[in-house]
Amino acid sequence: MAYRWNMSDFEPFYDVNRTYEDNYAQGPFGAFAEALKSDIAGEGEPGKTGESFLGQPVRLAFGIPAGPLLNSRYTTAAFRMGFDLATYKTVRSRAWGCNPFPNVLAVHPASADGSLTPGSAELDEGVLADTNYEQPISISNSFGVPSKEPDVWQPDMRAAIAAAGPGQVLVPSFQGSRVDGMSEEDYIADHATTARLVKETGAKLMVMNTSCPNEGHNRLLCHNPLLVGRITEAVKNEIGDTPLMIKLAFIPSDDDLELMVRSTVRRGTVQGFSTINTISARLVDKDGNQALPGAGRDRSGVCGSAIRGAGLEMVRRLAALRDRLGLDFAINGVGGVVSAADYAAYKAAGADSVMSATGAMWDAELAHKIKASL
Ligand SMILES: Cc1cc2nc3c(=O)[nH]c(=O)nc-3n(C[C@H](O)[C@H](O)[C@H](O)COP(=O)(O)O)c2cc1C
Repeated sequence: MAYRWNMSDFEPFYDVNRTYEDNYAQGPFGAFAEALKSDIAGEGEPGKTGESFLGQPVRLAFGIPAGPLLNSRYTTAAFRMGFDLATYKTVRSRAWGCNPFPNVLAVHPASADGSLTPGSAELDEGVLADTNYEQPISISNSFGVPSKEPDVWQPDMRAAIAAAGPGQVLVPSFQGSRVDGMSEEDYIADHATTARLVKETGAKLMVMNTSCPNEGHNRLLCHNPLLVGRITEAVKNEIGDTPLMIKLAFIPSDDDLELMVRSTVRRGTVQGFSTINTISARLVDKDGNQALPGAGRDRSGVCGSAIRGAGLEMVRRLAALRDRLGLDFAINGVGGVVSAADYAAYKAAGADSVMSATGAMWDAELAHKIKASL
């Protein structure tokens, strides 16, 4: 079966028709590849100035979250394309393999506006997924959070940090790794070790991912706020005053969300939340069969336009909690940002900064368009 996207007029910087390994070795593609060939530094885009991200001054607090920027070539190209926040794809304490190809499919929710609602029956009954990529873009991604070993990613992350232009910040992302035979203490310690390895690269801040299925099949660390609290305490002991942001999935219960904030921000271990990650759905082909080949891949994470409503809702609820509890933490809004209007909607919902993964993959000019709209 050929997995080809059928939009002939442009090439996403991450090519969904190639393996992860080929993208890592040969990418980025399209406009990002062109930007890399030029020798301009991080771009001096006009636009709103004087913003900040976890204490670092940035030109516009907009960029790309963990995922599609695989290494320093991708992050450097993102800076040159005017994305002032470029997140280096989530790294681990050890080498970690990628799920089998294909890793990306186009997703077509049944609702008239193409949105997916957390908790809706459609997520369990099946959402159509194929290779028919359409705008506004919604996709599923199934990578398994692959990572190179630290000896490879540490020097590359250092280079990525050095390539940021004025008013731009490289945002490292990391997560812990759960392996067979690990005790809970080992698992907590693995997070702290990985945070130390990130700090050694000269990182000024970091984002810890708690929102991928790293607790076993479809179980997310962020659904256990007390464990996240213990982990962030261990991480804080390792990284000291370096600001730490936590990446959250959609959390349906207000009580759980409040417990997350109380177990982290209240204890001084966390300075912000980035939300949301993908929404898990059962993916089916046009005949109702499992869309992604292989065991354990009946469900996969959906991102892009379909999840914007859910992302905005999480940001609004976090902003309301921040007000009610009188706490000071940053909110990074993610999920379905494909246009300048979506960026504005996240800001209006209470986000201090905004990022786009899928939208940026399908529109390399997104940062320029947002800056032009301000
Ligand atoms: C290709 C791809 C890979 C991703 N990998 C990661 C990852 O390694 N770590 C992470 O925290 N989120 C990862 N994500 C999730 C994104 O950071 C983001 O939370 C999600 O895609 C929703 O944003 P969007 O609608 O703009 O795509 C990935 C997303 C995509 C599209």
